[in-house]
Amino acid sequence: MAEAKKTGGLAGIVAGKTAVCTVGKEGVGLTYRGYSIEELAEKSTFEEVAYLMLRGALPSKGELADYKARLKSMQDLPGELRQTLELIPGGTHQMDVLRTGCSMLGTLEPEGEGHSQLDVADRLIASFGSMLAYWYHFHAHGKRIETSSDEDTIAGHFLQLLHGKKPDDKQRRVLDVSLILYAEHEFNASTFTGRVIISTLPDFYSAITGAIGALRGPLHGGANEAAMELIEKFSSPDEAEKGILVMLDKKAKIMGFGHRVYRDRDPRSDVIQKWAKELAEQHGDKRLYPVAERIDQVMRREKNLFTNLDFYSAIAYHFCGIPTPMFTPLFVISRTSGWAAHIFEQRADNRLIRPTADYIGPEERPYLPIEKRG
Ligand code: COA
Repeated sequence: MAEAKKTGGLAGIVAGKTAVCTVGKEGVGLTYRGYSIEELAEKSTFEEVAYLMLRGALPSKGELADYKARLKSMQDLPGELRQTLELIPGGTHQMDVLRTGCSMLGTLEPEGEGHSQLDVADRLIASFGSMLAYWYHFHAHGKRIETSSDEDTIAGHFLQLLHGKKPDDKQRRVLDVSLILYAEHEFNASTFTGRVIISTLPDFYSAITGAIGALRGPLHGGANEAAMELIEKFSSPDEAEKGILVMLDKKAKIMGFGHRVYRDRDPRSDVIQKWAKELAEQHGDKRLYPVAERIDQVMRREKNLFTNLDFYSAIAYHFCGIPTPMFTPLFVISRTSGWAAHIFEQRADNRLIRPTADYIGPEERPYLPIEKRG
């Protein structure tokens, strides 16, 4: 059992090479193509980071302007995709909306002639927010919204479609920073899924669709929604402390804590915590942020566990006025840039990813005809 735990889940196994990102490397922490996450989150924008991911270098001023214009021109959705979004039931998990939207777009604008892998990557990054907002307004308010906006950033575009008005500057920047933080994270489960899929040489959309499926679970991307649900359960820090102690006593996992690679801290969490606090204060919040902070303290004290990016992202998104079921889909918009970089990298030097397993089943035995089985 202990042995299985040590080696299970491919923990500590080097499964390939990448030039995209370092995670938890001593003295370096998290870097995207050599740039530290702290610096990127402070000084850059998500569009610069997406450009860096997909094109390998930070853009010049002119290149960034062109790239933003390109993304803006790719925000709108084809009629058939809108119809599909209308057919997806209103109660659907919103990750399933994006998974289906991605797959459908792959039938309308298949990768190949006229749609290079770079075109598809940009198209998905530009249009995922439109898909989510279109589906949401159609089902929640019976409205068919326009999916273009006058905002020229991914964050601003999404917030404008969601709220139907020009976004608040701070909310736009907080969402932008969170998209930077979520963009890439080496061989995490969804990225590895994408690499496995693309290694069999299918189209680009297949790999992204599979990656969305892997991201949906609460041990991975789904943790930000689960963290919000947890925080919202408590009406005060004292109540939260009692509740968390009971959960720990029952050996429950507390969502938004711990990490497979980081051991002491997740560098992304400090960045988003600062923004979450600022937004909470701006909203005069006296409950959610203090509850979150107490859960953080209890987890450090009791389990020596630290918050990962998902924990305080939940608070930040909440105070951007974003409904909880949209938290993980926002992660998709951002991580598509990282997934795409890995897909390009895998394709450039591909070998089918096909590991082997230790067999622990029965010895070879004779086949019994059905009438002789008990
Ligand atoms: N809450 C409570 N205990 C936790 C925990 C958490 N969030 N994360 C890890 N632990 C404990 C485990 O129970 C285990 O304790 P044990 O050795 O006494 O059994 C120990 O820490 C190691 O955890 P394990 O689940 O084996 O680590 P892992 O590397 O397989 O898992 C995660 C990493 C991220 C999946 C795990 O920390 C987790 O489930 N976190 C919550 C989900 C989450 O926030 N996911 C987003 C990741 S960015």
